[in-house]
Amino acid sequence: MSRSPLPRRPVLVAALCAVALSLTGQATAGPPPQPVSATALPYQDPSLPVADRVADLLSRMTVDDKIGQMAQIEKDALVPQSDLATYRIGSVLSGGDSTVSPNNAQTWADTYDSLQRTALGSPLGIPVIYGIDAVHGHNAVRGATLFPHNIGLGATRDPALVQRVGRAVAREVAGTGIDWSFAPCLCVARNDRWGRTYESFGETPEVPGAMTTFVTGLQGETLGSGPASVLATAKHYLGDGGTTGGVDQGDTQVSEAELRAVHLPPFKEAVRRGVGSVMLSYSSWNGVKSHAHKYLVTDVLKGELGFTGFVVSDWAAVDQLDGQSGFTAAEITTAVNAGVDMVMVPHDYKKFLGLLRGEVSAGRIPMARVDDANRRILTKKFQLGLFERPYTDRSLTPGVGSAEHRALAREAVRASQVLLKNDGGVLPLAKNARLFVAGKSADDIGNQSGGWTVGWQGRSGPVTEGTTILQGIRAAVTDPSRVTYDRYGNGIDGGYTAAVAVVGETPYAEMRGDRPGGMGLDQEDLQTLARLEASGVPVVVVLVSGRPLDIAGRLPAWKALLAAWLPGTEGDGVSDVLFGDHAPTGKLPMTWMSSASQQPINQGDGKTPLFPYGHGLTYGTGTGPDPDPEPTPAPKACTAQFRVTSAWSGGYQAEVSVKNTGTAPLTGWSVAWDLGGATVSSLWNGSLTVSQGRATVRNTAHNGALSPGATTSFGFTANGTAGTPAPQCAGS
Ligand code: GLC
Repeated sequence: MSRSPLPRRPVLVAALCAVALSLTGQATAGPPPQPVSATALPYQDPSLPVADRVADLLSRMTVDDKIGQMAQIEKDALVPQSDLATYRIGSVLSGGDSTVSPNNAQTWADTYDSLQRTALGSPLGIPVIYGIDAVHGHNAVRGATLFPHNIGLGATRDPALVQRVGRAVAREVAGTGIDWSFAPCLCVARNDRWGRTYESFGETPEVPGAMTTFVTGLQGETLGSGPASVLATAKHYLGDGGTTGGVDQGDTQVSEAELRAVHLPPFKEAVRRGVGSVMLSYSSWNGVKSHAHKYLVTDVLKGELGFTGFVVSDWAAVDQLDGQSGFTAAEITTAVNAGVDMVMVPHDYKKFLGLLRGEVSAGRIPMARVDDANRRILTKKFQLGLFERPYTDRSLTPGVGSAEHRALAREAVRASQVLLKNDGGVLPLAKNARLFVAGKSADDIGNQSGGWTVGWQGRSGPVTEGTTILQGIRAAVTDPSRVTYDRYGNGIDGGYTAAVAVVGETPYAEMRGDRPGGMGLDQEDLQTLARLEASGVPVVVVLVSGRPLDIAGRLPAWKALLAAWLPGTEGDGVSDVLFGDHAPTGKLPMTWMSSASQQPINQGDGKTPLFPYGHGLTYGTGTGPDPDPEPTPAPKACTAQFRVTSAWSGGYQAEVSVKNTGTAPLTGWSVAWDLGGATVSSLWNGSLTVSQGRATVRNTAHNGALSPGATTSFGFTANGTAGTPAPQCAGS
């Protein structure tokens, strides 16, 4: 963490605080706050091990000091600001719509420093930790660099690039003083109807697991190392992307084996990388709220996975536990005893602290639980360096929205583009072409940035500084006067080389983005496309959306289709690909439905998609036919790839991917391998036979045919050790 050093706080301030507390009746029955002498106390000595500093500080804290650390409140709810010290509040956040005025990096930094100064005025001078949703850049700050949302970063299949993105985001967040980002979402989105699909890196655990490099980007190799270390958050634990119907905050109705196989691995990887916090999910698992789930939070996350950071609840999520509005003492006790260390209240902090105090006094929340929560929280504050460098490092502030970061964002946009169709090589476009550009998202920075952009829901229009896709196109061509733009496609005629239609979704976030009904284009887009298609000019569609859309019926009228996802502020990354300055390399992170009626549709479920998971075209290496075409594969051929997805003493879980490498659909396949002494205890998406220590799994009837190039998978749990089997695949 690169921050300004702490001005030494005179002893007098501590004494005055103690007096203030007694006058306001806030003093507690516990020992009076120890006056802090001018010389450093152990917890103030950075040369000591963090564990020793935590232990010393904990020994000096009153019960009120401790329960205060477990409260996180919205900045705008803090009235008066002095309550931060009076109530010993440990954390402040800016929720989706929380902002400052004027909205710029300087004002955010000033706001942060003012709050920190207040917090340091408390008797023990414990710094506050400030959290925000910097989920695709420092997106609350106007003028910050906005990167592609996670669905686009997942399409890059480039964990190293995502780590670099995380580093840039950390530098911009730290440039405003803020120490903690509620990112990355490690959700595995299984139903594209979910309004948070774009916050997912992919529909299988592999890509979200690989993209936990974002954690290292944000925090640094170790928390607090080097400049601009920002606490990361693995969210939302557990199974937020697996709810029935893709309903946001719904119920994930799956077996524990599937929950562990699909949703847990990215969190396991994040913990391995040292993620400092985990945010719980609003959703339930088989009817039990994650925020009340002691087995998942304490036994699995903190016990089995060994998570040593702290668990934070989601925004007012504790309020949901009893199904009534508002929060109660019972709900607080349920959540804290389940393993929540910090409660994102976020508003009525006096009521919260009063209820929490009462529950602790009554023994319904053991003091040991309170101390454990405090140890976890304080450990992260010490590791971040907040006690030594609590204020903004102003050398980082000018870097918010810097050209360097925007260049990185443009690179990420390029790498996230997925070319789904390119008939007749209509792409790349020539830079001297006569082009007609249309569509509501061609010249709209708000649409191309999506939700969580200078506001919770984001919005269409010039919400922040950046380059629209149209501006990128105009900058790329040799003569901008040969580019005509009309949002609705009015005025097009047959004289253009091609028409580029930039269409898709307008911004949304969370439940407001759920699409239980149709998943197609809106009427404006359909009418615009009809005008372009009627002209007879080749139509290139650029889809700006937070998920795959139901477009199969329209696809035949389009010569090319490029999934741009939600690219953020650097729309020229899209034009880089349109004109071939960079060939498209992106691969689908989500299976692309043939119809919304197929949802959920995922790799290996046997349904026939429009485009399979992992699909993505590129441009030919030369202009003519491929100089050395691949040897014609056997018509009925397949390969099998074995991968251990989790292991524990005496057992393991594995997934086997079956790929049709032939040229004809496979109506059946079988995979055989030596078990090496292991015994399969459960298996899904296949039928098992075992003979002489060798397993053979065949496709199940409902799997249906496997198209050429498509992949399916089956999974199983086994007792014993996995070894390194070489599964043999036979197609039929
Ligand atoms: C929201 C989201 C969560 C976010 C939090 C704070 O409701 O679920 O992802 O971090 O509140 O804004």
